[in-house]
Parts: sequence; structure tokens; C-alpha cells
Amino acid sequence: MRTNPYNMANEAINKIREALKFSPDNIPLKLHLGEMLLDEKEYQEAINEFNEVLTKDPANEEAKLLLAEAFLLQGNYSATIVIAEEEQFKNNPDALLLLAKAHLRDKSLSEAIEVYKRVLKLDPHYADAELDSQLRSQGTYNDSDQFDEDEFDEDATFRIVENPGIDFNDVGGMEKVKREIDLKIIQPLKNPEIYKAYGKKIGGGILLYGPPGCGKTHLARATAGQIKAKFINIGINDVLDMWIGNSEKNLHEVFEYARKNKPCVLFFDEIDALGASRSDMKQSSGRHLINQFLSELDGVDGDNDGILVLGATNAPWHLDSAFRRPGRFDRIIFVAPPDDESRETILQLQMKDKPKTDIDYTLLAKKTPDYSGADLNAVIDIAIESKLEEAIKTGVPQPLTTKDILGAVKLHRPSTRDWFNSAKNYALYANDSGLYDDILTYLNIKK
Ligand SMILES: Nc1ncnc2c1ncn2[C@@H]1O[C@H](COP(=O)(O)OP(=O)(O)O)[C@@H](O)[C@H]1O
Ligand SMILES: [Mg+2]
Repeated sequence: MRTNPYNMANEAINKIREALKFSPDNIPLKLHLGEMLLDEKEYQEAINEFNEVLTKDPANEEAKLLLAEAFLLQGNYSATIVIAEEEQFKNNPDALLLLAKAHLRDKSLSEAIEVYKRVLKLDPHYADAELDSQLRSQGTYNDSDQFDEDEFDEDATFRIVENPGIDFNDVGGMEKVKREIDLKIIQPLKNPEIYKAYGKKIGGGILLYGPPGCGKTHLARATAGQIKAKFINIGINDVLDMWIGNSEKNLHEVFEYARKNKPCVLFFDEIDALGASRSDMKQSSGRHLINQFLSELDGVDGDNDGILVLGATNAPWHLDSAFRRPGRFDRIIFVAPPDDESRETILQLQMKDKPKTDIDYTLLAKKTPDYSGADLNAVIDIAIESKLEEAIKTGVPQPLTTKDILGAVKLHRPSTRDWFNSAKNYALYANDSGLYDDILTYLNIKK
């Protein structure tokens, strides 16, 4: 059992306070204390620490930013704005993000939008969930002159386009899936003449399905990186939630956006949500949305050359069979939990930049059957947390060892078994034309 995190944090805070008695001028330590106080929601105390740092070192940028953040959390928006608007932060995305949030929470929407655009211009990686969701829904519902629907391209979708930053080398194992993606969508994009010469029609997408956390999203992103294309990541639930009643139009705009950003991988996550019956969506409008999606896939309203369409779902059985016709998601690929070798690679990738001793990855892989990639991430997080606790107690950071990770494995159960429990039933009893045979093969079940 682990100790109550609240007490632990308090204890750590007290230790740092003790240490500061001996070296009151240790600015990094004081900033660290302030951050811990912020985490504990002790905003006023944190503010005192940051102010003390600034008395000693008036130009300290980090202290100023933390102070601005503390004021924001405290609800003192005008104080945040005063700091974040300082000349020195003119091109600092961290400061501007705080500024945008202060304006947003202060109900100054147009200022918030204007500042947020500046942030994203400086660094597109800075997308922020609160600002995205608030500004977008505000824009659609109350403030249409601020967030004109025609501005969709520049404003509403900016957050979904990424430079992927990873390629197939960052994906452990999955050789078969990689090969299939290569043959089915990468090669046709690179060598269209060859495919045409053999009378092979180009187009259509791939649907990835399997238990959560096993790398579907990761692989889709790596596919984009593999061909140096942009990655457009659309959560279907986002499309549905953000503009209820306006979904068809938005879906069309998503495809138009992809057409303007070729070459790109257009990735639809949680795609089963399109087929699911939703309480907040009338039955018939659900049907319209599916039809809209299918005609976009078919390229009825535009040319899809240069767009690689990938979809992912944990529940393919909820997806309308119309999605599987030729030219649509005509390849359905099972993304299984990583095997021993893949887990070894995944662990190596995840430990790459961590302080560590010689790690026995083969042993770790052997001890983690049924663990998904996400489970392995969690295991390493747990191991790091307990290392941190230790380091705070002793004051001496130690590298991670194989034993630490084995200890963490015991604290985190693999998550894929539950999925197979229900998937098995679909594979046994709703397996039209052998669609889910891969699940049975994986489970060693004979039909
Ligand atoms: N084959 C893999 N290689 C490297 N990392 C992986 C792999 N599979 C999963 N992961 C890790 O696990 C995390 C969760 O995977 P994700 O792609 O989000 O799963 P899914 O989309 O299937 O739910 C990823 O962010 C990645 O860090
Ligand atoms: Mg995913």
C-alpha cells in the first residue's frame, strides 16, 4: 500500500522548508517549493514564495510566470494579465497561454481568441483543451461574429493538425500491420502509376481495431511520419459534441481541410461513435451523418487523392457494415496486444531518456504478458514515482533498476483481458464472413 499522497506532499513541503532555513537564497529550491504549494492548491502561500524570489531576483522569468499562474488559479485574472502582458513576454507562448486563459475566464472572449491565435502561431504544439473547447463552443453558439464558421480552416481545426514527430521506428513490433499499411496505402501514394498499370484502384482506408492502449493511435501517427505527411487527428466524439446539430457540415469541412493539406493521414478515432445511438442525437440525424461520412469517403464532393484515411475503434461490431464496402474501410486490421518481442522494444523506447542502470528488458517482457503499450507506460510511471518519493526522502536521486520495474509490474494489472472477454462473443457469434477470425486465432480458439 502507498501512503496518502496528501500527507506525503505535506511532508515533502516541510522538508523543503527545513532545507530553506539553511540556505534561504536557494532560488531554484524556493521555486520548487512554490510549485509544490501550487499543486496543493495553497495559492497564497505559493504567491508569497514567488514574490520573495522576485524581491531577490527581480528579473527572474520563471518566477514571474509561476506567479502569473498562481494568480490565475487563485482567480485574480487582472494580476495574471498585468504580468503576462509585460514586454519581455511578447513572444513567449507560455506567458501568452496564461494571458489567453485569464481573458477567457474573465469573459473577454475576443481578447482570448486573439491571444490564443498568437500562441498557436508561435508554436502550433501549444493547443490547449480548455481554450479549444471554450472558444469553439462559444464561437458557434453565442459569438458568431468572433468565430465565423467560414473561418473554420484557420481557426477551428488548427488544433487537429500535427507534424507527427514519430515514424515506424518508434513503433515496437506490429510488423504485419506495418507491412499492410505500406502495401495498401503508402505505396499507392508513392507509385500511383504502378498500381494503375495493374488496374488496381487506389483509395479506400484501413480500419484498425483491438483492445485499448495497444498502439492504434500511435501507429496512425507513425504512418504519417513515415511518409512525412501531416497528421490530422479527428476524434469522432469531438466532432459530434462540439457542434451538435452541425455535424454533417463539420465532417465535410474536415475532409475539405484534409484536401487542402495533402499529403496527409486523416485519422478518425473512436469511429464506432458514428454508428452508436446517442441520446443527444436524433436517430435520423445519425443516419444523415453516416451518409455524409460515406459520401466523403467515396470522394463524391471532392478528390481524395493524397489523403490516407485511417480509422480506429475498440468496438468494430458497432460500425455499420456500409463502412466496409470497397473503396471505404475495405481493410480491417486487428491490432493485437504486443507480443514478448514487441513489449521488449516498447519498454526500450519508453525508457530511452530515463536515468537507469542496465535493464533486463527480456525479463521484463516475459513478466508482462497481456500488458498493452499503455499498461507498460503506466508501469514505468509507477516505478518512477516511487523512485521520486525515495529521492525526496534521501535527497539523492537514484537510477531506475530492473527490480524497481518488476515491483511496479505487481502494482498494475494488465488491461487487455476484459476487452477479449467481450470481443470473444462477437467473434464467436457475430463473425460475418470471418471478419473477426484474428481474435479467435489470438485466443487459440478453433471455429
Ligand atoms: N507498438 C508500440 N510501440 C511503442 N509504443 C507503443 C506501442 N503500442 C502502444 N504504445 C504506447 O502506448 C500508448 C497507448 O497507445 P495508443 O496508440 O494510444 O493505443 P490505442 O489507440 O490502441 O488505444 C502510446 O502512446 C505509446 O506510448
Ligand atoms: Mg487511441
